[in-house]
Amino acid sequence: MNIINIKYNNLKKYSQLFKLAKPFPHAILDNFLDENFFKNLNLNEIIINKKKGRIFNTDIEKNKWASKNEILSNNLKSIIDELNKKDFLENLHKLTGITELFSTSEGNTSLANYHEMYESGFLGTHIDHSSEPVTGLPHVLNIILYLSKNWQKSWGGSTIFANKYGTKIEKLVDFKPNRAVIFLHSPFTFHGVTEIKNNLNKRSTIYVDYYSANKSPYDHLNLKFKNVWFKHPTTFILPNIKDYFPKKNRIYLKKMIKYRIKAFLC
Ligand SMILES: [Fe+2]
Repeated sequence: MNIINIKYNNLKKYSQLFKLAKPFPHAILDNFLDENFFKNLNLNEIIINKKKGRIFNTDIEKNKWASKNEILSNNLKSIIDELNKKDFLENLHKLTGITELFSTSEGNTSLANYHEMYESGFLGTHIDHSSEPVTGLPHVLNIILYLSKNWQKSWGGSTIFANKYGTKIEKLVDFKPNRAVIFLHSPFTFHGVTEIKNNLNKRSTIYVDYYSANKSPYDHLNLKFKNVWFKHPTTFILPNIKDYFPKKNRIYLKKMIKYRIKAFLC
């Protein structure tokens, strides 16, 4: 059985759309998984041991749970494996033009590729870690696959794409079952998730990150911001300046200042 819809066997035809998309390159691919595979995916049976996951509940990351891959069922693992295969990496190269792509060399079972978010959950605007944990090479792409079978627009949970400072929402990608969003990751591609306003269903997603052995991975792209890469940790931009002042949020202030200096100097 096919896992990914065969219509996405060659992503080259979406490459212009990807490169021209605003505020930064991305592609929205509906019906991403094969129709039958998606129909047979039982979201109630995808986690073997929920206790082994990690819960996030802070001012910038609320009501979220991330798995460790080792506790996922085989059908969910098979999606993650597919997204890590050489063929898919080659397909991502056709879509994005980014060379020397690879998925992380960290052990696949220790990763957290499956996430759930619940009523009132959200994810503040941020950029992810800049580098592959083992090699230190640039983090250049993300894919998010929306898995929940039933979702309404009014329930929120959209992916946010923000401006290059992370201060203003530029685009929302609504949550739609079996939709994949592939987007560029650079020091200026701030993203997040809007608040969930529904207690009927959880927001289930698969997230996979990709890296490049090329340290100037964005040179071929015409971006509205500096097309450079530099090292930074996951860095959140809080909604208001005053949000940085409570002691518990000083860590975000420190990271944000360090990041701003690097972004200015690069
Ligand atoms: Fe992220």
